[in-house]
Amino acid sequence: MDIRRLTDRLGGLAFGGDYNPEQWDAEVWKEDDELMHRARVNLATVGVFSWALLEPEEGRYDFDWLDAHLDRLHAAGVAVDLATPTASPPPWFTLAHPDALPVGPDGTRLTHGSRDTYCLTAPAYRRAARRVAAALAERYGDHPALALWHVHNEYVTLCWCDHTAAAFRVWLRARHGTLEALNEAWATAFWSQRYTSWEQILPPRQSQWHRNPGQSLDYSRFWSDETLAAYREQRDAIRAHSDRPVTTNLMLPGYQNLDLWAFGREVDVVCVNHYPDAPGVDAAAHAAFDADRARSIAGGAPWLLMESGTNTVYAGGRVLAKEPGDILRHSLAHVARGSEGTLFFQWRQSRAGAEQWHSSMVPHAGPDSRTFREVTAAGEAVARLGELAGSTVRAEVAVLHDSDAWWAMKVDGLPSPDLEYVPALRRAHRALWDAGLTVDFAHPEHDLGRYRVVLAPALFLLTDAGAENLRRYVADGGTLLVQHFSGVVDERLHARLGGYPAAPLREALGVRVEEHRPLRQGERITLSDGSTATAWSESLRTEGAETLAAYTHGMLDGGPALTRHDFGGGHGWYLSTRLDDSGYAALVGRLLREAGVTPDLPDLPAGVEAVTRHAPDGRSWHLLLNHRSEAVPLPRPSHDLLTDGPLAALPPGGCAVLRT
Ligand code: GAL
Repeated sequence: MDIRRLTDRLGGLAFGGDYNPEQWDAEVWKEDDELMHRARVNLATVGVFSWALLEPEEGRYDFDWLDAHLDRLHAAGVAVDLATPTASPPPWFTLAHPDALPVGPDGTRLTHGSRDTYCLTAPAYRRAARRVAAALAERYGDHPALALWHVHNEYVTLCWCDHTAAAFRVWLRARHGTLEALNEAWATAFWSQRYTSWEQILPPRQSQWHRNPGQSLDYSRFWSDETLAAYREQRDAIRAHSDRPVTTNLMLPGYQNLDLWAFGREVDVVCVNHYPDAPGVDAAAHAAFDADRARSIAGGAPWLLMESGTNTVYAGGRVLAKEPGDILRHSLAHVARGSEGTLFFQWRQSRAGAEQWHSSMVPHAGPDSRTFREVTAAGEAVARLGELAGSTVRAEVAVLHDSDAWWAMKVDGLPSPDLEYVPALRRAHRALWDAGLTVDFAHPEHDLGRYRVVLAPALFLLTDAGAENLRRYVADGGTLLVQHFSGVVDERLHARLGGYPAAPLREALGVRVEEHRPLRQGERITLSDGSTATAWSESLRTEGAETLAAYTHGMLDGGPALTRHDFGGGHGWYLSTRLDDSGYAALVGRLLREAGVTPDLPDLPAGVEAVTRHAPDGRSWHLLLNHRSEAVPLPRPSHDLLTDGPLAALPPGGCAVLRT
């Protein structure tokens, strides 16, 4: 396990962040060494945006400055996560290769002057990326400071240029084989879209009205595969010169158009970035959501939080300050869910430049600041948790995630703007998190046998194999909740005929959906059990299921809204509308009760988060985060690693890591 090599190298969990010393001078570097020591930094990500310095002109490299920083960091006991700089090509590159600048769907070509101004499919860009990755690997492949390779930064840029069109056609030929098959898949018989040669096919550029949905979905799949291919090229160029683990930093959907399951299989260590998007307890729920996804992408193995917002929360276009104690609480929220440490963006807050207002471990005010004191406290805490390295987390419940289903919900022409993918996953995860549970994410075709409860909040697209897998899961004793607008189309976006959802799943749920009835903007309906709902309703009939709540409005009056079906050894639930939060929480609570799922530490009050990490040798630790403003007595006093002593109560807002 490559993550084990990293923690062995570090002698414990990782603590640190992005380090961009090229913004500063020798005096500051000296202070950096001293402050990193104080904050217990043991890993620094270097070189993410250094292309212009590393290769000042095509093919001429200047490594001296980087040699000096790597040697200095090594002398200071800080290991290096060395990045390839390919997320930000320098101006000379784009002037020499203007065709490598990205083009938007409306045909506008971007210019340099920001970052991420590249097109992944441009041959000149790919050549340059391989070249600079190989040059770095040749020079630093066995540098004693080097612990990890960090390819690129958050692959994010999409493109619709002519290079992309050419690469898209190659991908389409491999997927569909013949033009007939493509025409059939994309349903080009409608609107006179039939293609008679491959050259006629374009990426889904801006058009007069709805773009072809099959074309849009295939473009998303293609772009993810193309990104993976670009990653692999750099990874392999590095591996030719270095035996250290290689990774890239993922930013979970919807920022990047990537199939995260596929990336999880290709990186040596799953690394993710997390930037909270709400203050208070919502930030903790968001951290749990991203951390649970990261662990799931890693197949349950330990992973690493590669970047996080040090002391700010981005909410509604505003950069809000975190509450006192959040730096540690948020860090431990990730560690609890399997992260082998915590890293921030960035070490020292930029004095000027594009991200000068992004909070950092050392703020503009310097070390005499609340931020640096809290960073130092977090560093000390993480340094005490070395014995957790290699331990893993278990979950009895899962939420289904499939990139195809996500991309399918982004195509033009769906029946309501209220249909949503990532928010639906977050609501499902939040209901389980509020119930005190640790949650896995799983693909609908994964083996789900280990889960007692599975939620499928947004599976608009579902393959035959997925539908059959879900049927079998219920038949074998599982409890499955499928939510509205699921199982509606196959992998080509062709509607399931004869009633939704896809037939095998219908059998497990004991319902047949006849028609969708989107609700009006702002419309709120009340179901027969008093719960309220918005956005969506469906006309369905039961085929063996029991109706637990019925519609009470309009033409659906009396029709089933929420159903439950005893099928084989399990239970298939179907919810055909979007319940408001309290009703949804009550429903999820009922599923959990009936399936006998309880939190790891059932006696804790609401607002105290508890996750258990298990070592292969049987040791385990409870990580507790108190989101309440009062102290919480613990069921029994235990040894706390953070204070290295017995702990009888969690302080207000406090954290603990208890040896069980
Ligand atoms: C991340 C990115 C960093 C930095 C950070 C803060 O997504 O990888 O380079 O920009 O956001 O905005």
